[in-house]
Amino acid sequence: MVQYSNELKEEIRSANDIVEVISQYVVLKRSGRNYFGLCPFHNEKSPSFSVSPDRQYFHCFGCHKGGDVFTFISEIEKVSFKESVEILAERANIQLPTTQNEAFNAKQYLKDRMFKINIETAMFYHERLYKPLAKIAQDYVKQRKMDNNTLKSFKIGYSGEYNELYKMLKAKGFKDEEILATGLVNKNDRGEFIDRFRRRLMFPIMTVNGKVVAFGGRRLDNNEKMAKYINSNENLIYSKKKHLFALNIAKQSNEKKLILVEGYMDAISLHQRGVHNVVASLGTALTEEQGRLLARYAEQVILSYDSDGAGQEAILRALEILNKLGCDARVIQMEGAKDPDEYIIKYGSGRFKLLVDNAISLVEFRIKMLKNKYNLENATDKVKFLKEITKILAQVENKIEREIYIEKVAEKYNISKEAIYAEVNKLAYSKAPSKEILNRKINSSVIKTEEISEAIIKREKMILYLLINNYDEAFEKITKEITEEDFKVEINKKIFKAIVDAKDANKDNILSIVSNIEDQDLQAHISEIMVTDYEITSVEKCIEDIIIIYNKERLNNRKMEIIKKLDNTEKLTEEEIAKLETELNNIIIELAKKK
Ligand code: GTP
Ligand code: MN
Repeated sequence: MVQYSNELKEEIRSANDIVEVISQYVVLKRSGRNYFGLCPFHNEKSPSFSVSPDRQYFHCFGCHKGGDVFTFISEIEKVSFKESVEILAERANIQLPTTQNEAFNAKQYLKDRMFKINIETAMFYHERLYKPLAKIAQDYVKQRKMDNNTLKSFKIGYSGEYNELYKMLKAKGFKDEEILATGLVNKNDRGEFIDRFRRRLMFPIMTVNGKVVAFGGRRLDNNEKMAKYINSNENLIYSKKKHLFALNIAKQSNEKKLILVEGYMDAISLHQRGVHNVVASLGTALTEEQGRLLARYAEQVILSYDSDGAGQEAILRALEILNKLGCDARVIQMEGAKDPDEYIIKYGSGRFKLLVDNAISLVEFRIKMLKNKYNLENATDKVKFLKEITKILAQVENKIEREIYIEKVAEKYNISKEAIYAEVNKLAYSKAPSKEILNRKINSSVIKTEEISEAIIKREKMILYLLINNYDEAFEKITKEITEEDFKVEINKKIFKAIVDAKDANKDNILSIVSNIEDQDLQAHISEIMVTDYEITSVEKCIEDIIIIYNKERLNNRKMEIIKKLDNTEKLTEEEIAKLETELNNIIIELAKKK
């Protein structure tokens, strides 16, 4: 594997200002020296995500993720460290060494050709829809009430016969292997090239930035033997779990809400009728990648699935994925139509928007599902129902939110508020810490070392801060007086050791030492240290003070040790006792001087 040199990484790092890069994903507000925003990596309501422009580090005080601009890109885009370097090099227009990466370049080139083929294909299909031979498609489009604006904005098209697309692409100079790589044309046993999509209504699937990555094609006749839809297979540039149909259009609405539907036609139909903030999953249950994409562009996601379509489990799962990603996710309760397309045609956009406004949350949805299991007229059932809903309500961590639900549920199902409160409180306070909290405890070194005082934790972090930020001034002085053993917090000790070891190995650029520490937890901890403002006015004075503290502490420890020994003199010789007493005297004098 190609390794980029430290110099190159440094160049790329400094060409990508961390505040600018992160601003493309997170709304940042300046406060003091740092910027703050809502963490993109976990669910939170008040900002604990901090970015330091001086240090070029980010850190979330909530979920403890952090690092430099490369870490950020690899976390948010879910790519390797190396790919993050490539992404940021491209962003800054920095040429990566070509001779080293022939394979990478060949792959880039093929991807590029595939994108070109896709765009040519989309145009070809789209233009073909307007030709006389596409009458069947034109009739269908009319029957589905799609207007011309819609056809234009979604680049809807009509695919040809036999090998028309192949011929067109060849005429444009694309090579067979490039065409085959897109899956738009297949080669049969006889070696003939045949278009994958024939006589279908074509929906180009685009990335957030409007690049065509794939197609969905709908059958136009009622021949049930043929699949209603066929879609592009996954390939080098297309992975269906990572894309959402119409997101490129929906994001332009700049709404905080995105509506998620199941079908291409649902998205298109809502859009045409004035609901522009709508996207469709691509014939799969919502994936985490899609969830992340939604979470990036929306604060709230409203699921509007077919009324008979996805099972309750699929809805639950989607709501859970979205909640976990920090989205307020809700689900529409639709009656009188099988899907959003049919609904909006039948009842109009006003009523559809009402559905959106009245969409219910995960908690309400779970309670509603429960209700279907019980007959609330029956007293025993009602008690069981109460027990079950309190379990759900007790899991709502935010107290105010919990109260709102309790009020709602009490009213809706005619149960006394007090009864619900009593049950919920019983559960909320008796409950063992959830798995998540336990994990958080295990992962967080700070919590693990609760018994170590705040002052010590802060002091250790300050030492690391000084080492990293004022390396030349601090390294010799500090390492002369303070050793690994002086560290009480395990993670601080590890970082200190990594810095000292790297120095011993003669790596003397502190930033590359620190960014070469691969351990994610260590990186996160470093970033926390880097974004914290320790209000140091004089580095020299600060180092001195810290060293004094450690020396004093060492003397104090020794003093206690001697006193303990002198308490128990039977085992000691006269000579030993005398020696200890002299040492103790010296220590006491020494300590007095330091006061
Ligand atoms: P219409 O039936 O034309 O209204 O389409 P729709 O977009 O409402 O589709 P539907 O609700 O039936 O299905 C939802 C989505 O699942 C579609 O948009 C496709 O992405 C996918 N899908 C549906 N049928 C098939 C199929 O037969 N094969 C594949 N691969 N995907 C399908
Ligand atoms: Mn439909």
